[in-house]
Amino acid sequence: RSLSLSISAVSQNVTTPESQDALKRALAKQAVGLVKSGMVIGLGTGSTASLAIEELGKLIRQGKLKDVVAVGANYQSRVLARQFGVKTVDLNDVNNIDIAFDGVDEVDFNKNLLKGGGAAHTMQKVVDSVAKECIILADQSKVVHLLGSIFPVPVEVLPLAISPVLRRLVTLGGVPEIRSALRKDGPVITDLGNMVVDVRYVLISLSIVLSPHFPNGIPNPAQLENSINMIPGVVEMRLNRIVSGIATSVLVAIQDGDNV
Ligand code: 5RP
Repeated sequence: RSLSLSISAVSQNVTTPESQDALKRALAKQAVGLVKSGMVIGLGTGSTASLAIEELGKLIRQGKLKDVVAVGANYQSRVLARQFGVKTVDLNDVNNIDIAFDGVDEVDFNKNLLKGGGAAHTMQKVVDSVAKECIILADQSKVVHLLGSIFPVPVEVLPLAISPVLRRLVTLGGVPEIRSALRKDGPVITDLGNMVVDVRYVLISLSIVLSPHFPNGIPNPAQLENSINMIPGVVEMRLNRIVSGIATSVLVAIQDGDNV
């Protein structure tokens, strides 16, 4: 299995679930190999970040790493860290974070990220932005030319402001939908007590109707991020899932024989 330190070509999106799991594990191992004793580590959320937490725990238990502490971006990562023997501390107890590891839903060739599949993007963005180095772990299925090609844009919203925010998202050309819990018996509520709105863009839907060859996605992620963050009730500018300019490097895992 090969690992690339930079994105250099087009994703083929051919990963099967089994090979995707293997790629995520390979990424996790590669990432924790960068950790040194005494470091403060930022822990992201999702299946890839969870594997990195597990691999980090293994190195600590084997005595290969000493005095490592971790800041978990949310409840899930903190619970997992404890389970795998990684000591956790509060973000407010550390002066800085040496390396943060995080997964991603989509990444483009400019290292713009679309995150939030697990509704944990707000604190992830804070932890990732505090870290001296933020390493994003992406299997080949995550690489896109334009963000928004596959996933909608997740926006974390104060529950009491949900209606005006939905209206403003529509005026920005979006098709917003409040994210529901799996059993559809209520909205998803984040660790911070807010709701999540997933937004697709009319341009994207129209492009499918008008021409299947027209590129889908968001041409200017940073501009859209700023516009969304200006809406009162959106939980400050760091809460939506387009995270521009935060990743310091992106590890992309590709299946042997495939081109990314
Ligand atoms: C959660 C996230 C995750 O990092 C993202 O959804 C990727 O998850 P996975 O590693 O399971 O594919 O942003 O809010």
